[in-house]
Amino acid sequence: MTVNPTGGPQLSSDARGIAQAVVAPLTRAAIFLVVSLKPGPGARALIRSFCADLSSIFRAVEFRDIESALSCIMGIGSGAWDQLFGPPRPAELHRFREIRSGARHAVSTAGDLLFHIRAKRMDLCFEMAAQIMARIGEAVTPVDEVHGFRYFDDRDLLGFVDGTENPRGEEAAQAALIGDEDAAFAGGSYVIVQKYLHDRAGWDALSTETQERIIGRTKLADIELDDSVKPTSAHNALTTIVENGQEMKILRDNMPFGRAGSGEFGTYFIGYSRSPRTIEQMLENMFIGKPPGNYDRLLDFSRAVTGNLFFVPSATFLENIQVDAPAVKSLVSQPPLQSNAEAAPAVPRESEGSLRIGSLKGEVEDE
Ligand code: HEM
Repeated sequence: MTVNPTGGPQLSSDARGIAQAVVAPLTRAAIFLVVSLKPGPGARALIRSFCADLSSIFRAVEFRDIESALSCIMGIGSGAWDQLFGPPRPAELHRFREIRSGARHAVSTAGDLLFHIRAKRMDLCFEMAAQIMARIGEAVTPVDEVHGFRYFDDRDLLGFVDGTENPRGEEAAQAALIGDEDAAFAGGSYVIVQKYLHDRAGWDALSTETQERIIGRTKLADIELDDSVKPTSAHNALTTIVENGQEMKILRDNMPFGRAGSGEFGTYFIGYSRSPRTIEQMLENMFIGKPPGNYDRLLDFSRAVTGNLFFVPSATFLENIQVDAPAVKSLVSQPPLQSNAEAAPAVPRESEGSLRIGSLKGEVEDE
């Protein structure tokens, strides 16, 4: 077990890279922040220096309430990877591929960087997001920000317990973290996010038995339906992928979100996997159907309004990024955001001229 600089204790899949906090425990609150990169060398320099400093920003926020299990994961999209790092690229990094089938559409939307921030308290998540934006605001344009909450017994807003069949412990690390198959990026992960909006009135008009056959589990007790009654189109049937006799698991941390006043009821889907192919196969089964036409009826009541694929490099990779020289000047002019609530511990700085930037230590070349 290795202590992860951007989260709690974390299994290290490989001595070459300590993973970001992908395998973190479920929390009561989360923020999903997606931003686009502005073009140009200034934005590149700023983000690279930020990557190297992310763990120290994280520690400053986390230490204000160490019991609250704050974690922060940074993901990088395919186009942004080229702009920020160039070759080598993670072997399976590409843009999210849209799927259209009948009335169903898994859209592919804009977004270069993802921040998945989790904690037991929303105020910590918010503070972390605010500190991130204080550092990178000049270099990015916000695309989407969702504040998710845990709903009763880990239920989604359709009333079903969500997350039961997630792998745990070492099995979760095996499912989510890259190993020898892409050794240069060992300890990394792929993450797919989709923001779904539900037709809650339509869903609520269904009988509980019909809803249970769509999900594949009972609603109250969350027991899996027996194969004799579970349709092949059930959500948990279409998202079970078996290859060479082995079930291919992914790690999910979906969160409900919404606005009661405007009748918005949503699920923010987030899935981590050591290969994006596994989640893509699940999406094809859900949207196109298996066999085609035998699609996921959950989609008759849920519409995807965003879709992105990001690579989550190891924490080691982020810490060791070399900073472009002009970034130092830009950073000096950006003090960390001060919280109104109480005196925020400053982001560690050794002096105005020395910003504890990994690159200046010259440890690892990434391009
Ligand atoms: C509208 C959005 C979604 C909702 C409300 C939803 C809800 C659920 C629920 C209630 C379960 C059963 C409990 C559990 O094991 O977690 C489940 C299982 C699962 N879902 Fe989803 N889900 C959504 C989207 C997705 C997407 C987009 C994927 C993958 C591409 C996915 C993959 C899975 C997997 C792998 C399981 C576990 C299957 C098993 O092993 O039994 N879900 N989901």
